[in-house]
Amino acid sequence: MHTIRKILRWLEDRTGLGELAMRVAKHPVPPGSKWAYVFGSATLFCLILQVITGVALALMYQPSSSTAYQSLQFITERARFGRVLRGIHYFGASGMIVMVGIHMIRVYITAAYKYPREVTWISGVFLFILTIAMGFTGQLLRWDSNGVWSSVVAAEQLGRIPLIGRPAARLLLGGDTIGGHSLSRFFSYHVFIVPAFIFLLVGLHVYFVLHHGISEPPKAGRPVVRDKYRQWYKEMLKEKGVPFWPYAAWRDLLFGALTICVILGLAVLFGPPGLTEPPDPSLVHTTPKPDWYMLAIFALFALMPPRIESYMIVLGPLATVIFLLCMPFFSNKGERSPLRRPWAVFGTICVVVFVFGLFLTGMHSPWSPKFKAMPLPASTIRSSDSVVVRGASLFYRKACLYCHKIEGQGGDTGPDLSAVARRLTADELKLRLVNGGRNMPAYGGLMTNDELKALVEFLQTRK
Ligand code: HEC
Repeated sequence: MHTIRKILRWLEDRTGLGELAMRVAKHPVPPGSKWAYVFGSATLFCLILQVITGVALALMYQPSSSTAYQSLQFITERARFGRVLRGIHYFGASGMIVMVGIHMIRVYITAAYKYPREVTWISGVFLFILTIAMGFTGQLLRWDSNGVWSSVVAAEQLGRIPLIGRPAARLLLGGDTIGGHSLSRFFSYHVFIVPAFIFLLVGLHVYFVLHHGISEPPKAGRPVVRDKYRQWYKEMLKEKGVPFWPYAAWRDLLFGALTICVILGLAVLFGPPGLTEPPDPSLVHTTPKPDWYMLAIFALFALMPPRIESYMIVLGPLATVIFLLCMPFFSNKGERSPLRRPWAVFGTICVVVFVFGLFLTGMHSPWSPKFKAMPLPASTIRSSDSVVVRGASLFYRKACLYCHKIEGQGGDTGPDLSAVARRLTADELKLRLVNGGRNMPAYGGLMTNDELKALVEFLQTRK
């Protein structure tokens, strides 16, 4: 006992960590910071959970295109606790995005981003972007058709940015198309690069929060005045402040524990998202859906008229990010209470309803290769020539029908091909199939010459 105490005292003397921890735990916080303040720490709890489960998964995962899918199958079906582990990592990611979203809304509604906490907000905006980046890169690591398809769409969108689009898409994918090289790249993003930035920024974010102190719950009629705020805050803390531990921290702990329990429960109950089949760009059978937090973004682009889509895909996210980053500079003093900022509240409600509406739309995948399309009925095949019949069957099997309608059957992503032969000659058809187009995959390397010929033959009958 005595020796242990001696060692501890020596450690404390040489590091001072105990004192630091005490100072953080006991630092005074404004009274009355109630349940609304728990979402930031809940995000942190989720992050810690993600790090632990992520490292455990990385011990078994093999980031190569020939083995990734199998290694995930192995983790899910045979490794001990593998299924639950993947489940926790999946629901942990969802939990983190939900918490980050609520935390942002709370900070905005209570105007906690105002003077002097502008930089805290900005570091938070970057953390939000990085969190989404983690979800996006993680999805590809499943290396099933869902993940690959979503990344193809994203890379295409990136590629449309004027000037820097192509190089940016190449940088993202590690080449011109998606393949094994993209997988190693996404693995590096997901486990080295993005987490490094997240750790750095989380450190800074928490430091800023401690540096400025937790924002006091807003009160109508008590505006933030630039030159007086710090002085006022200091005096308020001296007078009414309570030590962070235990008066405020118990809520953080309780809510964090609850969050983790819910994540564990969901993971045990539902398990990880099932793997769809291995990726094959020409065959996308099931309903490739991005994970739910991407649905809103996908739906937004799907609903936009194609003519403005190219611009909006670039300008939309850019404008959103710039707006979020500049926001604390437009309004960094004055009233903080939501009661005195009706437009801020109204705007937030609009954004939430809008995003939720997009999410619901996204559930039906309108962007929408229609992956449940049935093979073409015999009545739409106007020739009994065996090559034409083969072409019609390929039209279904090569997934053309997911995007193209023929006599009312099929998806809406591409033009209706019911009468395509009136517009295009056989050579033009062939060229289009080999090269693809905007939103259409290039089938050049994915089909044999015979298949290509049969498809063109079949399309030639569509007059
Ligand atoms: C992911 C969705 C998608 C798939 C799958 C797809 N296409 Fe397309 N296709 C499109 C889009 C979008 C366009 C319009 C491209 C453009 O305007 O540049 C298009 C254009 C075309 C055109 C030109 C139509 C015209 O009127 O100009 C033909 C022909 C065509 N596709 C045939 C096929 C065939 C055959 C297949 C299957 C081997 C196929 N497509 C698979 C999305 C798809």
